Formats: sequence, C-alpha cells, structure tokens
Amino acid sequence: MASGPIPSFLDVSRPSIARVYDVFLDGKDNFEADRAVAASALQIAPDSAGGAKSNRAFLRRAVRHMAAKAGITQFLDIGSGLPSAGNVHEVARAVRPSARVVYTDNDPVVAVHGRALLADEVTARFVTADIRHPAQVLDDPGVRAFIDFSRPVGLLMLAILHHITDAENPAAIAAGFRDALAPGSYLALSSLRMPGPDHPQDAEKAREVQQLFNEKLGTCLWREDDEILAWFGDWELLAPGLVPLPDWRPDTADPPVRDSTYHGFVGGVARKR
Ligand SMILES: C[S@@+](CC[C@H](N)C(=O)[O-])C[C@H]1O[C@@H](n2cnc3c(N)ncnc32)[C@H](O)[C@@H]1O
Repeated sequence: MASGPIPSFLDVSRPSIARVYDVFLDGKDNFEADRAVAASALQIAPDSAGGAKSNRAFLRRAVRHMAAKAGITQFLDIGSGLPSAGNVHEVARAVRPSARVVYTDNDPVVAVHGRALLADEVTARFVTADIRHPAQVLDDPGVRAFIDFSRPVGLLMLAILHHITDAENPAAIAAGFRDALAPGSYLALSSLRMPGPDHPQDAEKAREVQQLFNEKLGTCLWREDDEILAWFGDWELLAPGLVPLPDWRPDTADPPVRDSTYHGFVGGVARKR
C-alpha cells in the first residue's frame, strides 16, 4: 500500500484475489505478495491486465445501460472489489443522480477501503458479506435499509462466480439472488471462460494461469459457456447475449480492446420477466 500503517488483522504475506486484481487495474492497494502473483500471471499471459480492464469497462457499460435505458435506480454489487476507476455509484449517478448502491465483498481490505471511500456518502454503502450465503446478504439490515426489494434492482456479479467452486454450487447461489428480486430487475455478470478448441494457445495460457491462481489465491475457474449461461436462469438475455467482454454493446465512452484475453472472459446482461 502506498502509505499509512498496515492494519493488524491483515496478513500481507498472503496474496488476495481483490489485491491481485487491483495490481492488474494499476491500483495502489496491494502488497509485494500480490504483485508477485500478478507478475507470474503476466509472464504466462501478458494481456492479463487487459482482461481485468475490459471487465471494468464492461461493468461501466452494463451499469450505464441499466440506469439510462432501463431506469434502474438501485444497485447491489456482489464481490465488488477494491474501489477503482468508474465505481458503480459514480457511473449510475452520472445518469440517475438519485441512484442508491450497496457494495458487498468478503475481503477485509476491501471493507476498509470501501467504507473509507463511502464515508461521506448517503446513498452508497459497503456491507461485508459472503456471496456463498445469499440469504445472509439479502437479509442484512444494511442491505435492507438501502434496497427496496419490491422494486427492480440492478444486480452485479462481475468476475466473482469463477471464484466459487463447483461444490459450492454457483448456479444455486445465482438463483438465490435472482429469486429475491422483483420483475424488471437486471443481472449483469461476467466470468472467465475456457477458450474453445479454435483457440488452443489461449486455452493453454488459461489453464496455466488457472493453476497459478488456484495454488496462490484459492478458487479460480475458467468455465464453459453453458455453465455461465445457467447463472442467468430463465431471465431474458439481452442482445448480444453472452459474449467476449469487448463485444457487449461497445460505446465511445469505453472503446473496446480486443487482446489475447478476448476468448477467455465473457459477460452478459439479463432482465427478469
Ligand atoms: C476479480 S474481483 C472482481 C471485482 C469486481 N466485481 C469487478 O468485476 O471489478 C473478485 C472479488 O470477489 C471477492 N470475493 C471472492 N470470493 C468472495 C466471496 N465468497 N464472497 C464475497 N466476495 C468474494 C474478492 O474479494 C474480490 O474483491
């Protein structure tokens, strides 16, 4: 970290998902152990940071779409990560000044930074929560105080379900959140996706980085399209569907970058009927 004392609860010798991602996003809220994992990933797949940046650009476009085109004024961001350029409340409010946002994550460092960033905010807050327990997230008093579940919600699950094991059942977790939302709600999600047989070199790099992340960070799985599509349930998938991140409704505010992570990172947005 750039400055200030390191909180005593933090073991900086162990890398974390949120802080390695922060390295890829050129953030400053990371430590040597995080930078070492990021450097190893970049050695295998030099465009890894580009994939993370494409994901943030997808997040901004999806939130702009929900706020501007669908009139969504309340957002629930699960596994929100460290504050970064174009946070959800900033993007949403540029379109809907009254937008309310709840950020959740289970990483204590994310909690410290999230609370500090939002200290003066009255319409955005951070709640520590674990995605593996949807009912706990949805029933949290801090979430309930901010989100009116009788009205449509913009649910964001970006680059988070690939950190959930098969045994933890990401499809059931996604369903737990979807079922709690009112008709007219939106879900934006993104995930690492194993490149198909047409892209064997990209697939090989994905497998190597997957092994690295699973050794150093815990779960990180490049999944198949049908597994990811199942997380939308029976919601109506908006055009162009589940696609490589740069291809989801590119706009001039976030021009798409198609690098070698293109086939390995996908996203989509769906609406509850
Ligand atoms: C790759 S980052 C993505 C951050 C943000 N959603 C984005 O797309 O820019 C993944 C985030 O998921 C969080 N995370 C991982 N496992 C989690 C869990 N079980 N519950 C809540 N958050 C989790 C990590 O702490 C990290 O901040």
